[in-house]
Amino acid sequence: MGEAIPPAEALEYLGSRVGEPLTARLLSDRRGSRAWKIEGPLGAVALKANTPGDGLTRDKAVEMAQEDEHLLLLTAAGALQAGYRVGAGEWAGGRWLAVRWIDGAPVWGAFARARSLDGNLPSAQQWLLGVARTWVEELARLHMAGWAHADVQPTNTLVTPDGVVAVIDYALACGPGGGPRLPYRGALTHTTAPEVARAILATNDDVHVQAGPSADVWGLGASLQWCWTGQRPVPYEDDAPRAAKLGIISKGATLPLGKVRPWPFQRFEQAIAACLAPLPGDRPSAAELAQLLKEA
Ligand SMILES: Nc1ncnc2c1ncn2[C@@H]1O[C@H](COP(=O)(O)OP(=O)(O)O)[C@@H](O)[C@H]1O
Ligand SMILES: [Mg+2]
Repeated sequence: MGEAIPPAEALEYLGSRVGEPLTARLLSDRRGSRAWKIEGPLGAVALKANTPGDGLTRDKAVEMAQEDEHLLLLTAAGALQAGYRVGAGEWAGGRWLAVRWIDGAPVWGAFARARSLDGNLPSAQQWLLGVARTWVEELARLHMAGWAHADVQPTNTLVTPDGVVAVIDYALACGPGGGPRLPYRGALTHTTAPEVARAILATNDDVHVQAGPSADVWGLGASLQWCWTGQRPVPYEDDAPRAAKLGIISKGATLPLGKVRPWPFQRFEQAIAACLAPLPGDRPSAAELAQLLKEA
């Protein structure tokens, strides 16, 4: 393992974008890659780079190049704001990628108040509906362009202080192109849709499983239920092998929301239940769900 300092090649590039002097703060260090907040007098970015020397380096560098390609394609398709992608390139240890900084908190932390047993206030209800609506609107933009995010989960979703969601991490997204890519084999287990779980279990590790928009909708429902109730939506032992967890998920049953919710909130519960329909065709589209959540 190298030191957790950002690649010099990236800093040199970013100096011309956010200005000098730069400060770097390590945000995460996991699964073969690291992320930093890089800040200068003109702005801030999130910088990701693969971590050399941990055995995952090649795949992670390829994944980072793949995410850059996804950002370029999604921006060209109008599904991502121009300017979200700040830059990307090679460094001595692999690849780096920089995106515009979003001032927000991951969903688990942002939901702390809503999760508390005495959180049932009109303001919390409005806030929850706003988070769900802006989250599903982000997904709807991707889906309109023929993409699925394919890693919808609480840590890939930032909630700004005014309750607006920004979706991040496009590394595993599944697009309409069909060109060469790293085979998609699901992302976080807890937010993997039943049909994706089934496809993964039925195929070899080198086979690409194309996640569809309705798998994102399931992942959204699973994330909302998880962060609001404090319990993952599909019950299984923590230390069960991944294949066993996927086997349970593929059966389609989730914890009954009425039993695990911190307080009753029919409208929100209905939206979550609709997302978690076992059959993809029974789930609302992201656009339909956005419309539903907009209606007073
Ligand atoms: N645009 C962004 N704004 C703020 N923080 C970000 C941004 N992109 C990523 N991060 C932070 O960096 C972490 C890792 O980024 P992510 O793209 O999810 O990569 P990975 O999951 O592959 O490590 C995120 O969990 C988040 O805390
Ligand atoms: Mg991530």
